[in-house]
Amino acid sequence: MIEAVRFGGSMSKELLGEFKRLIAKLGLPSRPEAIRKLIRERLAQKERKLSNEESIGTITVYSYEIRELTERLTELQHHFHRQIISTMHIHLDKHKCLEFIAVKGKGKDIKRIADRLLSTKGIKHGRLTTTTTGKKLW
Ligand code: NI
Repeated sequence: MIEAVRFGGSMSKELLGEFKRLIAKLGLPSRPEAIRKLIRERLAQKERKLSNEESIGTITVYSYEIRELTERLTELQHHFHRQIISTMHIHLDKHKCLEFIAVKGKGKDIKRIADRLLSTKGIKHGRLTTTTTGKKLW
């Protein structure tokens, strides 16, 4: 059981107004929940920069169906089998593909894998999205 601690604070009307709009936009249930979410996000961001911390994430890849590229991606996935935990390939149309690669490992390793994958010839564009498994944040 996690012990909760109450705390108070003040801010300008303008800042509170912006915060309320953000809460509405994100569809968050309450102000305390919004504050917790923002703090966790910010801490997770910080934690990811400590490159030895464990991260989880996805590498999203848009590409053309080219045999050499498919082979290269498979080769990379075998090479990094410890960090690449799952993949999903979607054939968007006759030639275009979308691939989601789920990764888990040290932040710096995941970044390196994403850089290798995304610089592969034939990949149109892609993106690495990460979060943390940091237990302190829950
Ligand atoms: Ni495909």
